[in-house]
Amino acid sequence: MPDILKKHILVVDDVPANLKYAEQLLGDRYRLTLAISGMQALKFLKKVKPDLILLDINMPEMDGCMVLVQLRNDPETNKIPVIILTSEVDTAMELKCLELGAVDFIRKPFVTEIMLSRIETQLELSTYRHNLEDMVDEKTAVIERLQDVMSTCFAELVESRDGTTGGHIKNTTRYFSVFLDELSTLEPYKDILTPQYMRDLVRAAPLHDIGKIGINDCVLRKESALDKEEFEHMKTHAKIGGDTFQNIFTSVEEVHHSQLGAVTFEKICDTMNIDESADTAFLHIARDMALYHHERWNGTGYPTGISGEQIPLCARILSIVDVYDALTSRRSYKEAFSHEKAMQIIIEDRGIFFDPELTDIFVGISDKIEQCLMAKEH
Ligand SMILES: [Fe+2]
Repeated sequence: MPDILKKHILVVDDVPANLKYAEQLLGDRYRLTLAISGMQALKFLKKVKPDLILLDINMPEMDGCMVLVQLRNDPETNKIPVIILTSEVDTAMELKCLELGAVDFIRKPFVTEIMLSRIETQLELSTYRHNLEDMVDEKTAVIERLQDVMSTCFAELVESRDGTTGGHIKNTTRYFSVFLDELSTLEPYKDILTPQYMRDLVRAAPLHDIGKIGINDCVLRKESALDKEEFEHMKTHAKIGGDTFQNIFTSVEEVHHSQLGAVTFEKICDTMNIDESADTAFLHIARDMALYHHERWNGTGYPTGISGEQIPLCARILSIVDVYDALTSRRSYKEAFSHEKAMQIIIEDRGIFFDPELTDIFVGISDKIEQCLMAKEH
């Protein structure tokens, strides 16, 4: 087999005779790199990532355990399988190595067949794991693309019924993305707004008014201001939207737990290092945005009347841009307000309708929001 196709193994041992012996046993089957110390091994690993590491435990200066800790703490190396080379039976040490992430042990003096069998087993497991991870990544990408398409389709469906709010969803999502980008650079939001959370937020934002599907046409398309009864009916869109996502969430949970069995599902997620809540996180966010985007900081909003930080962050962010878009859009019963007037109204409602800290940040990016307004779709 050409060298390039052979699996690459890094052997770390402070005794040159052991390295030589490992080379004699493994040199024909594998591509080998020999390191005489933990430091030398770590230096090599900065440049090259082998398929497997054989690591001696008793070494001067930096022993095998210390090397293991460094390997596990580095995302670049923490998935490389490590087999410990040891000359004595020491259960406490073996347990410690397993806790630190070692996958197996080979005792010295080496018995050729045992050594080869254990190495092969770990290399095969590692290949399966990589293949499985690739499959999961591929499937995740497909699901995310599907979510994008579904989000857009549903949002357009809502908008097609609501003749008066042309472009509202796209415009709101644009202001929302600009606002999020700013928040993601600031404390304390930058720790909360992880890249995945940001992706979910932007994907869920266009769906915040999905509950309007349940509103009567005569109310939804009315060209004059709504009377009290009509407004009460319109307000139910928040609850309808929230319930819609809650029902989808419950159904997804049932699928997880019925088809695979809860224990199996958790085990798979554990093995694959997958956050088992990741696929439902989007639904949580979409539900919170749909349900709470008309809540107010002082508790006078709807549908639940919660206040302050009880209102999920995603809904507090969205409510500001949702109102900004409503103010700067023309309605049959009102003209579009200017950017300055809309900002003034939002500032007046700081700490009343809107989270005061978020309002300050939104006002701080007034120029960027105005640029979005000038480029908006009507
Ligand atoms: Fe709404």
